[in-house]
Order: sequence, then C-alpha cells, then structure tokens
Amino acid sequence: CGIVGYIGNKEAFPVLINGLKRLEYRGYDSAGVAILNGTLDVYKQQGKVGELEEFVLSQKVQGNVGIGHTRWATHGEPSDANAHPHLSMNGKFSVVHNGIIENYARLKEDLVKHGFVFSSETDTEVLANLIEFFYNQADDISAETAVQLALSKVVGAYGIAVLCSEEKDKIVVARKGSPLVVGLGNGEYFVASDASPIAEFTNHVVYLNDEDVAVLDKNNFTLKNIQNNPVSMKITNLDLEIGELDKGDFEHFMLKEIYEQPKTIEETFRGRLKPEYSEIVLGGLLNVFPRIMEAERIVIVGCGTSWHAALIGEYMLEEYARVPVEVEYASEFRYRKPVLTEKDAVIFISQSGETADTMAALHLAKEKGALVLGICNVVGSSLSRETDAGVYTHAGVEIGVASTKAFTAQVTVLTMFALKLAKAKGNIGEEEYQELVKELSQIPEKGKQVLENNEAIKQVAEKYKDAVNALYLGRGYLFPVALEGALKLKEISYIHAEGYAAGEMKHGPIALVDDNLPVVVVAPHDAYYEKIVSNIQEVKARKGNVIAIVTEGDKGLKEMANDVIEIPKSHPALAPLLAVLPLQLLAYHIALLRGCNVDQPRNLAKSVTVE
Ligand code: G6P
Repeated sequence: CGIVGYIGNKEAFPVLINGLKRLEYRGYDSAGVAILNGTLDVYKQQGKVGELEEFVLSQKVQGNVGIGHTRWATHGEPSDANAHPHLSMNGKFSVVHNGIIENYARLKEDLVKHGFVFSSETDTEVLANLIEFFYNQADDISAETAVQLALSKVVGAYGIAVLCSEEKDKIVVARKGSPLVVGLGNGEYFVASDASPIAEFTNHVVYLNDEDVAVLDKNNFTLKNIQNNPVSMKITNLDLEIGELDKGDFEHFMLKEIYEQPKTIEETFRGRLKPEYSEIVLGGLLNVFPRIMEAERIVIVGCGTSWHAALIGEYMLEEYARVPVEVEYASEFRYRKPVLTEKDAVIFISQSGETADTMAALHLAKEKGALVLGICNVVGSSLSRETDAGVYTHAGVEIGVASTKAFTAQVTVLTMFALKLAKAKGNIGEEEYQELVKELSQIPEKGKQVLENNEAIKQVAEKYKDAVNALYLGRGYLFPVALEGALKLKEISYIHAEGYAAGEMKHGPIALVDDNLPVVVVAPHDAYYEKIVSNIQEVKARKGNVIAIVTEGDKGLKEMANDVIEIPKSHPALAPLLAVLPLQLLAYHIALLRGCNVDQPRNLAKSVTVE
C-alpha cells in the first residue's frame, strides 16, 4: 500500500493525488484522502486513484493539510468501506495505515466493550478508535500522546499518518516495520511510504526508524519514539531524478524498464569492474570482506523474482568460489528454525528493501550472529540500513509491478560478488576470471541485440496468447531463468505457467504436454545442450509446441522447435542476463494482447510490506 501526507501552504489535494499516482504501483484496489480544513473530511472509494481524483474534483475540496492512501487489501475485501483513510467513531481521528495489526481482534473486543462501533472490517479502524479512546482519557492528552499510547498496545507492523480534528495544524506519523519517509520543504512537510511522491518537491528527507513517532506542522518537525523519548534525526539527500518516475516514450513502465536493461546493467557494474578486468571493487563490502572470506557457508534469502536471482547466485558461487550456498524463501526461512551461526554469511536480496518476510528473516539472522549482507535497489530502504554491509543494484526506480531490470541488476551484482570471492579464494583460474569479467562488460551490447527481436517476439506472442497453461524449462544457470519466465507470464497475463528444471519434466509436468501446451525451452549452446535437445524431443513427441530460446545461428533447434528466438553467444554463466530478456518481452506482449493491465496486474503489489 502507499501513504502520502502534506502540510504547508499549498492546496493539499493536488499534492496528495499526484503522490498517490506515483505510489499506485504499490497497491491499487482502493484509494482515499482526508483533508483537514475546519472539519476533517474523508473521500475514499474502491478503484483506481484516477477514479478518486474525478470524484473529489467535483467536490471542490480545499485545505492545506491532508493524508492519502492507495490500498492493497489485507483485512477485508476491496470496498469503499474498507478503503483508507479510516475515521475513528466520533470523527476525531483519521488514519492511513500500511502493515498489519496482528492483535486487532482483541483490541477491537476491548473497544467494543467501551462502546466503540465499527463500520469496516479493517485493522486500521481499530487503530483509529484506539487512538481516540486514549485521546478521550484526559483533557491534556495530545494527539501525539494518544498515538504513542495506542501504538504501545499494538502488536504488528505499521506505517501510519494521522490527522486530528481538534489539532488542526499537524500530522502525526509513525512507523514500525513498514517504511515512511518525511520530506523537508520550505514551510512545508511531506510524508510518504517511499520517496517517489516527495522527489519533485525536495531532496532533503528523513527516513523514520522503527518505533519513531514524528509530528509535522508547517514550520516544525519533531521526532520521538513511542516511549516519548527524543530520537536524533538524520537528514539524507535524495538522489532521485524525477524523469525516472515517468514512462517517457513507452506505453508502459514495464516495457520502459525492459528496454532500460542494457543501461541499468552497465550502471550496476559501472566503476566496479576495474581497468583490464583485473579487479572487481564492491566498496560496500570492503570492511566485511575478511569475514565473508571466513564464512563457512553462504545463505541467500529473498522472495519472488529476487529469489530467482538468488538461485543464479548459488550456482555461480558454488561453481567459482567453491563455497557452500543455500537459497531460501524468506517466508519459510523466518519460521522454520534454521541452523544459523556466526560462521554464516547471509545475503538478503530485495529490490524494494522493504519486503516484510525478508526483513523478518534479516532480523532472525542478525539475532543468531550471522554476518548479514544486502543486495538492494532502493537507497535508504530498511534493508540497506539494517544489514552489516551490502551492494546497491543501481537499477533506478522500478515501477512495473513485475520486476525486470531489478532482476538483471541483482544477477549482475551476484556475478561480480561470486567472481570477486572466487578470485580472493584462489578458486578460479586467471584466464577464466578475465574472460568472465570481460564478458560481463559486453552484456549490455548483447542485451541491445536481444531487444531488437521485439517484433519477432510479438509474433510469437500472437500465436500463444490464448494458451491456458504454459511450461518453461531450463537447465543449469537457465533453470532459474525458466522459473522467472513462468513467473512473469503468470503475473501479468494470468496464464497458469510453471517453470521447471528440464530434467525434472519427466517426473510430472510431461503429463501436461499436448498440442495445446506451449513449452518455452531456454536452450542456448552450453554444456547441457544435448540434454536439453533430448527434452525438446520428448515434448515434440507428445505434440507440444516448443518455443526455444537459442544461441544465434543454431540450425538444429530451428528445425525442431515451432518457434525460435535467438540470443547472442555468451559465457554460460552469463546467459541468464540475455535469456531472460525475450521471456520478459514474451510475457509483456501476451499480457497486452489479452487486454491485461501490464503495470498493475490484479491482486499483486510491488512492495509487500505484510507477511
Ligand atoms: C512482490 C513483487 C515481485 C517481487 C517480490 C519481492 O511480490 O510483485 O516483483 O519480486 O515482491 O520483492 P523485493 O522488493 O523484496 O525484491
């Protein structure tokens, strides 16, 4: 979900609505704003931010203080009633909230006993009423104190912004486990769940830490914690180009981001591959590198696309650095009592740096004394602040909900990390090391060539757009690419798709193969080529339709497969960076042909700050 807030001399509504549009990628099933201007007025409804805008514009809303929200449903279905902001029973407080109040049912019971009546199913309304309950306890309790008292009763995660009808010139905001950033303007303050709505107004921001409670008025910004102790604030410079937040000439953010990859991969290794490829410099790891060298095991943790990048990292680290690696889903790892010691180095991969499961896994690993490292795209995110050290991916803001450029950037970082470690450990020959680093530097050019196949890929998409199921196969480094290709297709086109290790096909998925099933096989010329050709034969023998991703000039597969998409020749370990591109485009075109909302697929959110 997305939160935005404004206090200053401007009209709040336009700032809020533009902010919500920037945040819409984080959730978009309902939206709302609350404006404080004499009275506390709430406008909210199910549907997109654009629909809210039309509705509110017809109401001629005025006021210089307001908060807004765009929602990704957790408690209660998307509806007008469940949309944020939520008002407390007597209308004194209006709250927007990200996260989950885990003990909301108990809190609600107590509030009902005190006569509170509820009009939604959300945990957020419980919080609004709890704040009002404390506010009513004595005349001298301020909104800030009421928020602190309410939050001290809360178990769970929250990023909140609160307006109080009796304290007209302030916004109270607080966070625990769900990000909030305050933008410092001239006689005005902004608050948002990420910096994108703030960047056009100021580049001075303060990221709140867990249990921080801030009060914003036009001229002041105070920061305390829930226990009312002052906490120090760190002002950070925002390095965000506003152009990064627009689609430019592209029809969709996803397409723009796919096309950016040759550039973003280069951004990721810029300044890190030293002249003549003699050295890889990862400045963020400098201080901890001796500890990484001593680690007896590396564990890589992530969710979704980041988890797929982790798998590629595992293959590289084991092949070249010869260190044992395990890859874990954050949501499993955090609860399954893993064996962790100070001899482990745990790498957390996250585009957003805010994914709730990944953050919880990080806290667990930290507690066990492991070295915790981050690979993350969002500068200043919770992950980047709470890890011992890390590497930024520098892919720029990713808005498309289905991750593309963040994935290739993550794989690029993992490649550099694996090679650096391999060299430091003396486990890779100089020649192979040089070859791999040189190849990495050539990936952007080769990536551009792959993207030139866009029209051909579109034609393939036309053929298979009505598929009900699809299978993606790969071996070795390209197995995770098959998983990622299938994920892309299902995320944005709603076609059921499965990624599989090609050799596993015979143990199950082969039962699905018939003349309706498209089977995408990632089959460039590498050590597994003969094996994967056999798998293709197995599919063909059962009348499946094979779409093969092949190395330029491959004649054999051209004859065998129904469709082929070529990628330039590359080192096998680097092939994922090229092979994933046509799969992203294929998913994009199929989704578009099916009339799906590519940038905002149903039910998904960009940054999942709930577990
Ligand atoms: C969501 C997004 C995915 C993403 C995953 C992990 O599910 O829709 O695109 O891969 O979260 O996000 P993270 O920010 O931790 O990489």
